[in-house]
Amino acid sequence: HKILSLGVFGAALVAGSASAEVRDIRIGVDVPYEPMEYRTPEGELTGFDIDLGNALCAEIGIQCEWVVQGWDGIIPGLQARKYDAIMSSMTINEQRRDQVLFSDPYITPPSAWFAPGDVEIGSPSEETLDGLTLGVQRGTLQDNYVTDLYGDVADVNRYATADDMVLDMDSGRLDAVFLDFPIGKSTLLDSEAGNYKLVGEKITEPKEYFGEGFGIAFRQRDQELAEAFNAALKTLQDNGTYEEIHEKYFGT
Ligand code: ARG
Repeated sequence: HKILSLGVFGAALVAGSASAEVRDIRIGVDVPYEPMEYRTPEGELTGFDIDLGNALCAEIGIQCEWVVQGWDGIIPGLQARKYDAIMSSMTINEQRRDQVLFSDPYITPPSAWFAPGDVEIGSPSEETLDGLTLGVQRGTLQDNYVTDLYGDVADVNRYATADDMVLDMDSGRLDAVFLDFPIGKSTLLDSEAGNYKLVGEKITEPKEYFGEGFGIAFRQRDQELAEAFNAALKTLQDNGTYEEIHEKYFGT
């Protein structure tokens, strides 16, 4: 048996043993961010992160409970022990590494610009975005990137949730938004609602903004917990569970 010590999370765990006595792990998440984390019409949490997070907890042999938290306060909430981990499409980057401990990346999507079908932008640049009104979710890497690169030439509107941003674009108040690609694809391109398009190329550079993929964040001292998640992630990648969940939300 492999013995896993989860420190403050209580008893030593015998990996795979159902009888192990451990405390529940709470995981903070900001919704909606479809297809990563959102609610079903019945109000239940679902999405790639939710399914993968639940599968990881099951693999480790712990119970996990999701705590919905606005993106703005998601790292402070972790430090304040409102929850023990964040699994919310959070990109691993150097700036955040100072505050939290990241798991290995579990998916690595690009970012992209999206605009209403009738807005002609061509390739996004200081010239083509000049004078436009752009939308980002406040406190995201997309906020940092757009503010730093285009804050002087364009109006940057910052939204508490990705949904507020989409609603504003639906009402014609935004010329373009910058988002993690899968969220734009799911809420703008694939939705029946509006007529939206991808603008320019998907963006993954520079790394100081776009980081190294999405990771689960823990408090710095919770190394064993992070290691348990990393080991479980490897197992799920090896045994096909990861692929199944990926296919459910991304079709491939
Ligand atoms: N990946 C981006 C970042 O880390 C945005 C994540 C926003 N997540 C969310 N659930 N709203 O900054």
